[in-house]
Amino acid sequence: MELLKQRIREEGHVLGDKVLKVDSFLNHQIDPVLMMEIGDEFARRFAEAGVTKILTIESSGIAAALTTALKLNVKMVFARKKKSALMNEEAYVTKVHSFTKNETNEVTVLKKFLGAGEKVLIIDDFLANGEAAAGLAYLVEQAGSEVVGIGIVIEKAFQDGGRRLREKGFKVESLARIAAFSDGKVQFVEESVKA
Ligand code: G4P
Repeated sequence: MELLKQRIREEGHVLGDKVLKVDSFLNHQIDPVLMMEIGDEFARRFAEAGVTKILTIESSGIAAALTTALKLNVKMVFARKKKSALMNEEAYVTKVHSFTKNETNEVTVLKKFLGAGEKVLIIDDFLANGEAAAGLAYLVEQAGSEVVGIGIVIEKAFQDGGRRLREKGFKVESLARIAAFSDGKVQFVEESVKA
C-alpha cells in the first residue's frame, strides 16, 4: 500500500536494527484518515473471505481493526492483555510472549463475544515473530471458529512470524513488508526484489 509506505518513509524512525517507531500515525498518535484507507484496503483484500468478525489485540491493533470492521460491516473484538476486574465471566485465555518487549501477557476474550461458527479476520499493527497472531488464532480455535485471514499493517519480513503463519496455512496480507533496516532507512520487500 503505497500511501502507507510513504508515511513510513517520511515519519518512521528506525531504532537499532530491528524496531521501527511509527508513533506519529499508528502506535501513539493515530491518523484517522490513514486508518480509514487501511480499513478499505483490508476490506478489499478479504472481500471474498466471508468475514463475520474481526479480532485484534489491545492496544495498537484496535484502530485498523475498527476501520476494517466498519468497512466490512461486522463487529470487532479486541483481546485484553490484562484481565479486567469486571471480567468475571467465562473467557478464552492464552499466553502470548513478546520478544520485542520481553514480556508475557495472558490474553483474554470473553466467550460471549467470540462464539462458534464465526469466520474471523485477525488484524494487527505489527508482525514480528508472529506470537500475537498465533495466540489470537488459538483463541479462535478454542471458540470453535475459523480464521479466514490475518491482516497486518506492517510486517517485518526479516523476522520469522510471516513465514511461520503462512506455513500453518493462514492467508496473511501485509500492507507494508519490510525487508531490512539499513543505515537507519527502511527497505521494503518489493524494493529489495527490484534491486
Ligand atoms: P509478534 O507478536 O509478531 O511476535 O511480535 P512481538 O511479540 O515481537 O511484538 C510485540 C509488541 O511489539 C507488539 O505490541 C508489536 O506491535 C510491537 N512491535 C514489534 N515490532 C515492532 C516495531 O518494529 N515497531 C513498533 N512500534 N512496535 C513493534 P504490543 O505489545 O501489542 O503493544 P501495543 O502497542 O499494541 O499496545
